[in-house]
Amino acid sequence: MKRVGFIGLGVMGMPMATNILKAGYPLTVWNRTREKMRGLVSMGAVAGESPKDVAEKSDVVITMVADSPDVEQVILGSQGVIEGAHPGLIVVDMSTISPRVTIRIAKELEKKGVKMLDAPVSGGDVGATQGTLSIMVGGPEDAFKECLPIFQVLGKRITYMGSSGSGQITKLCNQVICALNIQAVCEGLMLAAKAGLDLQKMLNVVTGGAASSWMLSNLAPKMIKRDFEPGFKISHQLKDLHHALSLAEDLKIPLPGTALVSQLFRIVEALGMGDRGTSAAIVGMERISGFEIKASEGA
Ligand SMILES: NC(=O)c1ccc[n+]([C@@H]2O[C@H](COP(=O)([O-])OP(=O)(O)OC[C@H]3O[C@@H](n4cnc5c(N)ncnc54)[C@H](OP(=O)(O)O)[C@@H]3O)[C@@H](O)[C@H]2O)c1
Repeated sequence: MKRVGFIGLGVMGMPMATNILKAGYPLTVWNRTREKMRGLVSMGAVAGESPKDVAEKSDVVITMVADSPDVEQVILGSQGVIEGAHPGLIVVDMSTISPRVTIRIAKELEKKGVKMLDAPVSGGDVGATQGTLSIMVGGPEDAFKECLPIFQVLGKRITYMGSSGSGQITKLCNQVICALNIQAVCEGLMLAAKAGLDLQKMLNVVTGGAASSWMLSNLAPKMIKRDFEPGFKISHQLKDLHHALSLAEDLKIPLPGTALVSQLFRIVEALGMGDRGTSAAIVGMERISGFEIKASEGA
């Protein structure tokens, strides 16, 4: 069984690392805020001293941090994974970051004989906890095959997309679709609220029809209850839309809806809610519409 290292124990990383440990893999963890390692250590994981130390103790190192500079720091920075490189080491970055940066990091690791996969995920904290994530993977195919049993602990739909960066590009497509879906859910709720409909009844009926979606089922009830716990943070959604728009710019294709919806999330961030979940998108719509939806609206 491969020795696994896990770096980044946030909303996603913590349940993912827990599932790897529960599946019986020897696990070394590292988190910038060290207290977060305690729970996993009490379950049998080893606390690494640094990303370098994690790499030295592992065959496969998974990173699940925030954005491109963070992945660069834990892999290429001082005391980073690259300093613990050894023959056969595979690095799997499961964060959502810039495809361009992924390719650059993979090239740096390749110089040390280390293979890297980009393997971002979709399915949220619930999917991370239940081990049902969708995982989209780019990088060397032989490394993908070696890591597949580990991916199967974390997710259900695991797809090899092609060369380095193609996992990240797939994830950006996912994020564009998700963000526009969130906007659609917000607008449907605003219209229903202003017209005096019972919001819950409206949701019940449209969820059973052609408008049904993950966002509608999962986020709309939270919006009505004003439950803005993350989940997926507004700041992370903004980061992903920035990467998608920058890729579209490189490819010279218009993404007008994505540009618009990124401004909605920017409003929510400007209201001081960047650390709240994406259900808080409704607050941005409320601010620009001049009224708030209410759970009891029309009931
Ligand atoms: N949440 C979701 O539903 C979801 C779904 C799919 C994909 N994602 C993606 O998965 C990644 C992680 O998301 P999350 O929700 O778990 O984020 P999160 O709760 O904000 O956790 C981020 C983790 O990264 C660490 N970190 C951030 N910057 C770092 C740095 N410079 N050096 C070292 N460690 C650093 C944090 O350490 P500290 O504990 O010290 O802050 C924390 O462990 C993101 O790329 C996100 O876009 C999230």
